[in-house]
Amino acid sequence: MHKIILGLVVSVVAAGSAHAKSIWDSVYTEDQAARGATAYQQNCSRCHGLNLSGTFEIPPLVGRFVPYWSDSTLDVLVDYITHAMPLGRTGSLSLATNTDITAFILKSNGFPAGAKELSAQSADQKAINFDSTNKKRAKAH
Ligand code: HEC
Repeated sequence: MHKIILGLVVSVVAAGSAHAKSIWDSVYTEDQAARGATAYQQNCSRCHGLNLSGTFEIPPLVGRFVPYWSDSTLDVLVDYITHAMPLGRTGSLSLATNTDITAFILKSNGFPAGAKELSAQSADQKAINFDSTNKKRAKAH
């Protein structure tokens, strides 16, 4: 049992090291984003708009949204959505649904989809940097 826990801790620490993933690394699937789009339309679009552009009083979830969340990790965003949204009905959506909605938000901001779904586990999401400027890719070239 202790070995298993130690193994988990080691892998989480490793994920946070030099090989950390970012939102550029195809961290969700198209199917997941499509599910997220449906949930978004049902629960969020009334305020944030069908095209996520917000209104005068309600912040957009595209555009300046990206630099605002930059340099945090994905769990922070999912956590925020889970605890603060949808405004007026906070906590009414499951973590799985909020994770799907987050996939849809990533897609809407031009971050690539891939073969593996975004995990709803907070520890997995913490291992993914919300890296708006794609520093990793810039370094690789
Ligand atoms: C009743 C209107 C309303 C609904 C419905 C709503 N939001 Fe919001 N949302 C807001 C307002 C207002 C803010 C700004 C809150 C603040 O600054 O404290 C906000 C802020 C946010 C932010 C932070 C944006 C930023 O960059 O600061 C995110 C992310 C977000 N909402 C996601 C969602 C998601 C996802 C849903 C659906 C599950 C949702 N919201 C539903 C009104 C709403």
